[in-house]
Amino acid sequence: MSSAYQIQEHTYDMVVVGAGGAGLRATFGLAQKGLKTACITKVFPTRSHTVAAQGGIAAALANMGNDNWRFHFYDTVKGSDWLGDQDAIAYMCREAIPAVVELEHYGVPFSRTEEGKIYQRPFGGMTTEYGEGPPAQRTCAAADRTGHAILHTLYQQSLAHDAEFFVEYFALDLIMDDDGSCRGVLALDMNDGTLHLFRAQGTVLATGGYGRAYFSATSAHTCTGDGGGMALRAGLGLQDMEFVQFHPTGIYGAGCLITEGVRGEGGILRNSNGERFMERYAPSVKDLAPRDMVSRSMTMEIREGRGVGEHKDHILLDLTHLGPEVIHKKLPGIAESARIFAGVDVEKEPIPVIPTVHYNMGGIPTNYHGEVVQIRDGNPDAVVEGLYSIGEAACVSVHGANRLGSNSLLDLVVFGRAVANKAAEKLTPGAALPDVPQASVDKAIARLDKIRNANGSTPTAVIRDRMQRTMQADAAVFRTQETLSEGVEKMKEIYASFEDVQTTDRSLIWNSDLIETLELKNLLDQAMVTIVGAENRKESRGAHAREDFPNRDDVNWMKHTLCSIDEQGNTTITYRPVHLDTNTSEVASIPPKERKY
Ligand code: FUM
Repeated sequence: MSSAYQIQEHTYDMVVVGAGGAGLRATFGLAQKGLKTACITKVFPTRSHTVAAQGGIAAALANMGNDNWRFHFYDTVKGSDWLGDQDAIAYMCREAIPAVVELEHYGVPFSRTEEGKIYQRPFGGMTTEYGEGPPAQRTCAAADRTGHAILHTLYQQSLAHDAEFFVEYFALDLIMDDDGSCRGVLALDMNDGTLHLFRAQGTVLATGGYGRAYFSATSAHTCTGDGGGMALRAGLGLQDMEFVQFHPTGIYGAGCLITEGVRGEGGILRNSNGERFMERYAPSVKDLAPRDMVSRSMTMEIREGRGVGEHKDHILLDLTHLGPEVIHKKLPGIAESARIFAGVDVEKEPIPVIPTVHYNMGGIPTNYHGEVVQIRDGNPDAVVEGLYSIGEAACVSVHGANRLGSNSLLDLVVFGRAVANKAAEKLTPGAALPDVPQASVDKAIARLDKIRNANGSTPTAVIRDRMQRTMQADAAVFRTQETLSEGVEKMKEIYASFEDVQTTDRSLIWNSDLIETLELKNLLDQAMVTIVGAENRKESRGAHAREDFPNRDDVNWMKHTLCSIDEQGNTTITYRPVHLDTNTSEVASIPPKERKY
């Protein structure tokens, strides 16, 4: 089999898959520690989806009022609806402060206060005094283009270190040994069709989320969860995949993000009566409630007939009262997006918005060092040797059932740095690598060959469209047994139809038909475990809102779902306990209570 394809072999200490914020921070961190590191990426690094992040990165710098990382910890635990691991959350919130200062020193052009400090804006669910004080100004911003500023700075830092980049390489499969360790990754150079076997002591999956499993998402078309797909094919379980975040303000129709920073700067959501309806749902924080709550409230308004537009099916985001100066200085990017994608002048008219898929709380389970974990011999935290994951691809779990806005850019840099520290502690630069598990390489090539020559009757785009529409309709903001069971059955049919997929381009040079089909398989695997996990979880928690089980059920469901899938699409669910201990004397754990704002 392998002889039909040219394979070049590369040996490294570490290979990072993905060059977004997490992948880049890990790549140069590893190189800085003296580990020979490669970064492989399907898009040029500065085109990674981190570039689209707008509102900011959370850190309790207290530049613009009272704040403390322990308040940030409290808000994140509460925001997660007590599904987040408190040891990981404590680590992230404490490390947020040095991580943002480090970014500043690397050259991120943050917006500034009058005194020259990093500018910070309010964001949903971020409060002071353990939820008793006023909203915190905690989200550090570079106007409304923070992701763009951070990604470019991290790429510049990467170039200053001795890491090697393999750009426009598509990662096909993990190379796994019989003992369950990861030995590297097989990738396709999309430019010339050569295959590349990256052997390494450690492989880091920093491949982002799988938002494109849905019809309408703020995610780029490249967000196909390639790392999650590879992990599932390696027999690993993914964690808490049923928790999918809908961002309240995607532009109606186009799906582009309008940052929560708009509401942080004073923007208001209004229904068809012009009413500021969030006052009824979250009386204390109003429009700055966490995303799961705002998305549900908007959906309720629409259902009850107070939506706007011809079909009364969306809501208005009003920032006309903010005035040109605030808009030009702090929100220039969304003013442009609203003009291009909604035809709206935000100084004069409100923006039509609708909850839109934005983020996957679930992913590849890891500890807070970025090491992938699974259940083995009764140990729920058993490390998968040689495999790491960070960023949206991973589930650490710092976001639990619902992520707070601006904790994602933070997660990228904190855990990108953590993985570099852990690998440096565990590995010896230049250590000899074990033999290549040839059976794993052959299996990966056979899969590629089958998809490349797929001679069925259903085009990739048709299967993708069915999957996206099913997920959008049946694994939505509100869920019921009926919609979920129906969705699972539909997804089983769609999944099976991949056997009949038709690719038409047989070449290996810039074969976008092949790449989209490989991406579709990654999406299908993750869509399946998402909807099966949602059907299985009989409670409401964070972003998982079951109308038939409206309450959180800590007795039966305060646990992480771990879901794997076999080649036929059969799923298996097990559970990992939530870490309620903070693992530090610096902050006490927060016992579960009702989540009100
Ligand atoms: O609304 C936003 O700017 C998005 C931020 C985030 O998802 O963290």
